[in-house]
Amino acid sequence: MALKRRQLLILGGLALGGGIGGAAFSGILNRKPDEIAPTETKSPIANNPKPAKSPPTVKRSLNPAPKGLYAPARGDVRIVVISDLNSAYGSTDYIDQVKQAIAFVPDWEPDLVLCGGDMVAGQDNSLKPSEIEAMWKGFDKHIAAPIRKAKLPFGFTIGNHDASGSSFGGKSTFENDRNAVIKYWNNPKHDPNLNFVDRAGFPFYYTFEQNDVFFLTWDASTAEIPSAQLKWVEKSLASEVAQKAKLRIAIGHLPLYAVSKGRETAGNYLEDAERLRALLEKYNVHTYISGHHHAYYPAHKGKLELLYAGVLGDGPRRLLSGDLAPNRTVTVIDIKLETAETIYTTYDMDTLKVIDQSTLPRYIDAPNGRITRRDIKI
Ligand SMILES: [Fe+2]
Repeated sequence: MALKRRQLLILGGLALGGGIGGAAFSGILNRKPDEIAPTETKSPIANNPKPAKSPPTVKRSLNPAPKGLYAPARGDVRIVVISDLNSAYGSTDYIDQVKQAIAFVPDWEPDLVLCGGDMVAGQDNSLKPSEIEAMWKGFDKHIAAPIRKAKLPFGFTIGNHDASGSSFGGKSTFENDRNAVIKYWNNPKHDPNLNFVDRAGFPFYYTFEQNDVFFLTWDASTAEIPSAQLKWVEKSLASEVAQKAKLRIAIGHLPLYAVSKGRETAGNYLEDAERLRALLEKYNVHTYISGHHHAYYPAHKGKLELLYAGVLGDGPRRLLSGDLAPNRTVTVIDIKLETAETIYTTYDMDTLKVIDQSTLPRYIDAPNGRITRRDIKI
């Protein structure tokens, strides 16, 4: 059942008047969804079993969550993952589920918010620079400013609708989009509050560290990651800071393997996925997080975990296997540093229930290889 629009408007009004902290919302969300505990959600891959020397000391609640929602036990590190927020081309506003998710974020008390891209709805050369700028202004108002106000670090990767890296004859196809992204993210007022390790390629590719976890973002806004950037990826992952981290996570908009209907065609997933996976595996990357496919699926292949972050905005899609209805999702990742375990709690943002992982297909045969649900051991 969809969230009632009136209820969301009330919530939005409170957010404007009283900040987006949990207290403002806790008494409002009177509908209590069934609290479905996730089934087996632990990672089968623990690729860095070294004991943690110094777990984070920040005082946190044991199981923080928005009131009325299932409240998972907090890990040593908690990340809220959102993705694919946009509406129609040129839109400066977001649908209610996006606004609700952003309003919820502080109540999960994450250490970091991650976005899998498509934060605005560009990639249309009929949009004027002023219209592109208006989209980013809308993004700032509805997404980035509330996250900044909650003092949460915001990591993100650029999607094809944000600033596609496609080019023709050596010239950028969406130059206005690329310029707008550079302008927006390099404005000190929009500081994402990240502990950067290397921001030379920011906002397109960069690295940062959060609570002993190393993050690498690459520009997967098209199917081909330039070879020079891949050299940077290898150097970054091989670095001492990356290898000394308790865990490594990579983020890009396009996935390595297709998972959703309508997105199984070339151009909608990365070229040469096997080579890219081997690169990530070589440096013990635990998980690759992606967007673009608008369908949530927690998977693994080889030694690499794959989190398909799903969609929050327009256009949920069906998975390539099974007959589940499309949905909009937010995933909370709790990380146990000592065992390098990641535990997912994924909420359907239309019903506010937790998605039961066991209802998802056991595997998906993508055009470029089979990926398996993360709890299924091969
Ligand atoms: Fe996309």
